[in-house]
Amino acid sequence: MDIKNHLLNLQPSSTLAINEKTKELESKGSKVYKFGFGQSPFPIPSDIVEELAYNASKKEYLPSKGLLELRIAIAKNLKGKKYSFDQNDIIIGPGTKELMFLLQIAFDGEIILPIPSWVSYFPQAIINKNKVHFLKTNFEDKWHLTENKLKEISDKIGNKKKLIIMNYPNNPSGTNPKKIEELSNWLKKNNFIVLADEIYSDLNFQDNYSSISHFYPEGTIVSNGLSKWCGAGGWRLGFFAIPNQFKKLNTTISNLATETFSAVSAPIQYAAIKAYNSNQDDYLSKSKNILKKIALEAYKKFNTNKIKVIMPDGGFYIMPDFSELLKNRFKSSVDMCNQLLKDTGVAVLPGCDFGFPKDKLVFRLSYVDFDGKKFLNSVSKDVNINDEHLRKFAPKIIEGIDKIINWSNKMSK
Ligand SMILES: Cc1ncc(COP(=O)(O)O)c(C=O)c1O
Repeated sequence: MDIKNHLLNLQPSSTLAINEKTKELESKGSKVYKFGFGQSPFPIPSDIVEELAYNASKKEYLPSKGLLELRIAIAKNLKGKKYSFDQNDIIIGPGTKELMFLLQIAFDGEIILPIPSWVSYFPQAIINKNKVHFLKTNFEDKWHLTENKLKEISDKIGNKKKLIIMNYPNNPSGTNPKKIEELSNWLKKNNFIVLADEIYSDLNFQDNYSSISHFYPEGTIVSNGLSKWCGAGGWRLGFFAIPNQFKKLNTTISNLATETFSAVSAPIQYAAIKAYNSNQDDYLSKSKNILKKIALEAYKKFNTNKIKVIMPDGGFYIMPDFSELLKNRFKSSVDMCNQLLKDTGVAVLPGCDFGFPKDKLVFRLSYVDFDGKKFLNSVSKDVNINDEHLRKFAPKIIEGIDKIINWSNKMSK
């Protein structure tokens, strides 16, 4: 069959591809440090799993926008976090990735992606033939945009509608922008539409997560779901909260849903009501304490005078930059990561998958290769996680990072 020209170069999403590759290496008996794929290491809270079991016999198709009770639960949950959405603003989808895809189908204008940019935004734009502007950021700004950069692109795009996709805590850098309020005010003043991908916001290490939507609610679509905070990526449930002034977009995405996935699986939606209505503070606080301790350890190990790295603000990624140390050794981040995997068994994702130029020697490390259930069960909410815990419950993370450091020092000589 003939395939449309613009789809011929489409590759499998790199995160899924690295998952397959590492599994294959493991099945051949190699010891692999699986720092490539970004999946929560923690089990889904047991009360939510029980709710799914209880609702397993729910078999009817649900409304395309999602179950009303679930939309009410999400709106209420968001209100508790100082957002101002009601249930009519919420759309449930089979993961936020699908909702982002529908948004890219519907949106008429140009798309702005700050680098680093999550792996799927750009391929989705290619599939939909949307025009994309990548914007460079730098280490000093924690890999986030400055007003100067925004102004340049705003002038260049002119009168067309502008959709910017902002993601923080960021995948891959793990960081939040420095001045959210100023940034939001600028976006508002200049009429940008914001897709705030907040899938890691409940894994923000500080409790006071600040959203662009708090300062610019009328122009910010908030995207979140069960995949990261609740460990339920495979359940495939995400939502968009769409400001009232984009009612037409809300209707269009709902209509697209009716013609594509119809509705998210019924038992999953019933279980998600529990996820949003119940108090999961204990689970979340323990998960975040563990992730933060690992992030700090990774940061301390990478933070040498030849490797640039920023302490993550949340999520489960860190993005060290080896450009200075290894510039005479590797021409591209892909070469660097392939060699690293070959020499040490450590799998990471190269910076070019996130929009960096090929020769920028950065990679994303997902610090999730540990038994989250055991770690979670071993700590209580108020216990300070110490080095001994790390060595006992996340030994591969420590070992794998040490391997990277030793390897990079050897390569630099
Ligand atoms: C930044 C970012 N956005 C969106 C997603 C997609 O999440 P979902 O499982 O809701 O489709 C991911 C998943 O890896 C992600 O890292």
